[in-house]
Amino acid sequence: MAMKLSPLAYQSQYYPSSIGGLPTSLNLRSPKFYMASTLRSASSKGVENLKKPFSPPREVHVQVTHSMPQQKIEIFKSLEDWAENHLLVHLKPVEKCWQPQDFLPDPTSEGFYEQVRELRERSKELPDDYFVVLVGDMITEEALPTYQTMLNTLDGTKDETGASPTSWAIWTRAWTAEENRHGDLLNKYLYLSGRVDMRQIEKTIQYLIGSGMDPRTENSPYLGFIYTSFQERATFVSHGNTARLAKEHGDIKLAQICGTIAADEKRHETAYTKIVEKLFEIDPDGTILAFADMMRKKIAMPAHLMYDGRDDNLFDHFSAVAQRLGVYTAKDYADILEFLVGRWNVDNITGLSGEGRKAQDYLCNLAPRFRRLEERAQGRAKQAPTIPFSWIFDRQVKL
Ligand SMILES: [Fe+2]
Ligand SMILES: [Fe+2]
Repeated sequence: MAMKLSPLAYQSQYYPSSIGGLPTSLNLRSPKFYMASTLRSASSKGVENLKKPFSPPREVHVQVTHSMPQQKIEIFKSLEDWAENHLLVHLKPVEKCWQPQDFLPDPTSEGFYEQVRELRERSKELPDDYFVVLVGDMITEEALPTYQTMLNTLDGTKDETGASPTSWAIWTRAWTAEENRHGDLLNKYLYLSGRVDMRQIEKTIQYLIGSGMDPRTENSPYLGFIYTSFQERATFVSHGNTARLAKEHGDIKLAQICGTIAADEKRHETAYTKIVEKLFEIDPDGTILAFADMMRKKIAMPAHLMYDGRDDNLFDHFSAVAQRLGVYTAKDYADILEFLVGRWNVDNITGLSGEGRKAQDYLCNLAPRFRRLEERAQGRAKQAPTIPFSWIFDRQVKL
C-alpha cells in the first residue's frame, strides 16, 4: 500500500451536508489519518500558490493507492468471460439508444423557433431552486471525463491502452459513451431554457474536471464497483426526483428527459451491483470488508470538489437545496445503503472471518443507526439561510 502524505493542514472534510454523506456532527467514521483533505478555492490559498502557473481550485492531499493485494488482480482477469456474458449484456446497442436530439427542438426543422419558444414557456413554471438542483445534476454529469479516469484507476479492470479489447475495458468505454448523452441533453435543455447563467455553469464544469474527484477507492475494483453501485443508484434516485418535480410543475417534456436519464442509471446500477454480487460469491470476506470500508469512509458524491470561482461551499449549498426539495436526501443515502445490503444478501453470508462478521454487523445496523441520527439532527435543524447562486444570475435561493 502506498500512501502519499502531505504536511498541509486539513480543511473541509467530506461534505457536512446531507447529500451523499452524514452531516459532520454525525460522522460515524473513526478519525483515521489517511482521510482526504481538500483545499478551498485558489483565491484563498495565499501568496505561495500565486507563483504557480496553474493549480486546481480543489486539491486532495492525502490519498491511499494500490491497497488491493497484487494476487487479487488475478480474480478480475479470471472474470473476463464472465464479464463478457454477464456485464456487457447490460449495455444497449448504439442503434437502439436514445440520443439527446430525440428530446430537443430540431434545428433543421421549420418549427425550430416555435419549439424553442414552447420549451421556454414551459420552463417559466419551474422555480429557481429547481434550476439550482438541475444545474448541479447537469454539472455532475458533465464531469464525465473524471469518472472514466476513475474507472481506469482500478487495478485489474482498467483500459490499459484506451482501446483495449478486454471485457472490462469495453464496458468502461461503452458505459462512458452512454453516460455522455446525459450531460449533453441536460446542458442543451438548460441552454435553450434561457433561465440560467451558462457561462458560470461552464466555468463550474471546467473547474470541476480540473479538480477531479476522490472517491477513495484506492485503485481497488472491490471498492470501485461498490462505489459505482451506490452512485448509479444515487443518480437514478436523483434524476427520478427531478423528473417527478418537473411533472408537478407542468413541464412534461423535461420530466421525460430526466426520467429517461434515470432509466439509464438504473440499468447501470443493475450491471455494477451484479459485479459486486459476483465478488461476494468468489470472495465473501474480501468483499464484505470492502463494503464496510467504503461505508465507513462514506460515499463522496462525484461532484464533491465543485467550485464556480465564487462560492467556496458550492457543493454543500447545492446539496442543501437538493435535500430541501427532496431530490437527494440523507434518507435516500440510508435507503440506498439498505437496498445494497439487501441486494447482496449481506445479513445471510456465512463462513466469514471474525473481521468479516464484524463488518457484517456494522453494515446490517448502519442504515437504522443512520436514520436515528438523522432524525435527531433534523430536530435540531436551524432556520436555513438564503444565498445567491451564480448559476442563476445570483438570484437568492433558500438552502
Ligand atoms: Fe449519468
Ligand atoms: Fe450513471
